[in-house]
Amino acid sequence: MTRTVLVTGASSGIGRAVSRKLLQQGHQVIGCSRDVGKFSRSLPAFFPLELDLSRLETISGIGRQIQRQHPQLDAVVFAAGFGRFAALEEFSERQIEQLMMVNFTAQVFLTKALLSKLKQKAHANLVYIGSEAALRGARKGTIYCASKFALRGFCQSLADECGKSPVRVSLINPGMVRTPFFDNLDFCPGEAEKQALTADDVADAVAYVLAAPGHVAIDELNLNPVNKVIRFKK
Ligand SMILES: NC(=O)c1ccc[n+]([C@@H]2O[C@H](COP(=O)([O-])OP(=O)(O)OC[C@H]3O[C@@H](n4cnc5c(N)ncnc54)[C@H](OP(=O)(O)O)[C@@H]3O)[C@@H](O)[C@H]2O)c1
Repeated sequence: MTRTVLVTGASSGIGRAVSRKLLQQGHQVIGCSRDVGKFSRSLPAFFPLELDLSRLETISGIGRQIQRQHPQLDAVVFAAGFGRFAALEEFSERQIEQLMMVNFTAQVFLTKALLSKLKQKAHANLVYIGSEAALRGARKGTIYCASKFALRGFCQSLADECGKSPVRVSLINPGMVRTPFFDNLDFCPGEAEKQALTADDVADAVAYVLAAPGHVAIDELNLNPVNKVIRFKK
């Protein structure tokens, strides 16, 4: 079955790997970035879309536009997000607002904008990229963990709300994945292969969720590198 999948964060890391995998499998992908100029190659089944999740007021309009242009849309992979890690006193109020907005509130707004039409499909999937930080709080993670815990509570509740509809809601919680996520952070996974997941590992998990038989709902998947090693850059 050919799917039409909206992928946020399609320009980098996990979202990019998910988009590549879905295109290889013959699906159509609407790939989002704040800068569609990042999508240099034009591919027949790939539709670039400009989306800035920090501009909450634009999201419902963009949702309507997507469903007008791609009425066959039947899945969304929410892979956009970013990390900021510091002691709470080191965050500005604006930084707190921004992290919660992009990692949580915007995903809720986008879901709300798309949900009614997805419920009318024979099969539909909403797949959210959570994190190991959705499962356990940790030092310097007050806001990042809060954004991912919030996302997890949202997913569990939404799955329950969608229980009588064809919409299946899934949360994928990766441990450290070797992506540009760490470019602006002062830590990253250890260098050995076993110390990080690859973006393709997460893309495989997303593909598994999307390919599950129509009567199977995969609520949550946790995946981690075999060895958890954090390397501090300075
Ligand atoms: N890497 C990890 O270790 C790891 C582990 C667990 C969970 N995660 C989660 O996985 C998701 C993807 O992370 P990644 O590792 O793939 O990071 P990444 O390589 O830095 O990619 C982040 C993506 O998010 C998009 N994005 C960031 N801010 C945005 C905004 N305001 N509006 C729209 N798009 C925005 C970026 O797109 P543009 O810059 O092109 O707009 C980019 O495509 C995040 O939610 C992250 O929390 C990552």
